Amino acid sequence: MDFGLKGRRALVMGASAGLGYAIAEALVKEGATVAICSRGGEKLERAAKALGAALAVPCDLTQPQAAKALVETVTAKLGGVDVLVVNTGGPPSGGFESLTAEQWQLGFQSLWMAAVDGIQAVLPGMKERQWGRIVLVTSLAAREAMNNLTISNGLRAGLLGLVKTVSNEVAQHGVTLNAVLPGYHATERMQQLGLTDEKVAPQIPARRLGRPEELAALTAFLASEQASYITGQSIAVDGGAQRGF
Ligand SMILES: NC(=O)c1ccc[n+]([C@@H]2O[C@H](COP(=O)([O-])OP(=O)(O)OC[C@H]3O[C@@H](n4cnc5c(N)ncnc54)[C@H](OP(=O)(O)O)[C@@H]3O)[C@@H](O)[C@H]2O)c1
Repeated sequence: MDFGLKGRRALVMGASAGLGYAIAEALVKEGATVAICSRGGEKLERAAKALGAALAVPCDLTQPQAAKALVETVTAKLGGVDVLVVNTGGPPSGGFESLTAEQWQLGFQSLWMAAVDGIQAVLPGMKERQWGRIVLVTSLAAREAMNNLTISNGLRAGLLGLVKTVSNEVAQHGVTLNAVLPGYHATERMQQLGLTDEKVAPQIPARRLGRPEELAALTAFLASEQASYITGQSIAVDGGAQRGF
């Protein structure tokens, strides 16, 4: 299926590795002109080259206003952003009583404010062109609390409310906004959290970790022309890991 993304300009945040990289790859394969960001350095440059990305912008999404500046840079270079994928590194982990105010602030800045600032910055152009796709990479933790991921559990549940609210406001302008909820996918982040295949797979009905490209496939579809009537949705890609309905 041709997703109708040829010539569309996409910005994928946090895309030098993991889920963001796989999403950028899927969009490049669909013919989109793709800009990526991450904290920078050789890792970002290598990823951009391997992907054939049009643009790589160093950007630390834990910093206030970073997402706004990022969208401005990409807009100046590519002429606009038609597809925005909001994604970043996971927030600090830890049980509630172990977390400091600084860690909460860091998590809030990267998970919440990067999403708010990024969406706010792309909306005027999308509304003007009467076409836009915004996809937030959140987590299964938004629906089912995961052990030790207090900040993620708390903030990501709220992001689903943001998706629903903003999607209702902009649907009439041809702009859709959806969230994808990864379960357990094989990335660096999972290794850092000690969530290996052996540990996690037995709890997943599919009996394996997800591949990043499996989340990317849904994200690319939500960015497509065909997904024009799908908005305000939160869709898990989790091999059946979510227990509730
Ligand atoms: N993997 C999973 O199964 C899973 C499940 C649920 C939720 N999630 C969430 O999905 C998101 C992506 O996960 P992942 O597994 O792909 O993580 P990952 O493998 O750690 O990759 C994170 C990406 O974000 C970039 N990044 C990290 N901190 C950043 C910052 N402050 N500013 C800009 N870019 C930053 C990293 O690049 P640099 O190092 O170059 O900056 C990298 O490209 C995370 O928020 C994670 O919590 C993942």
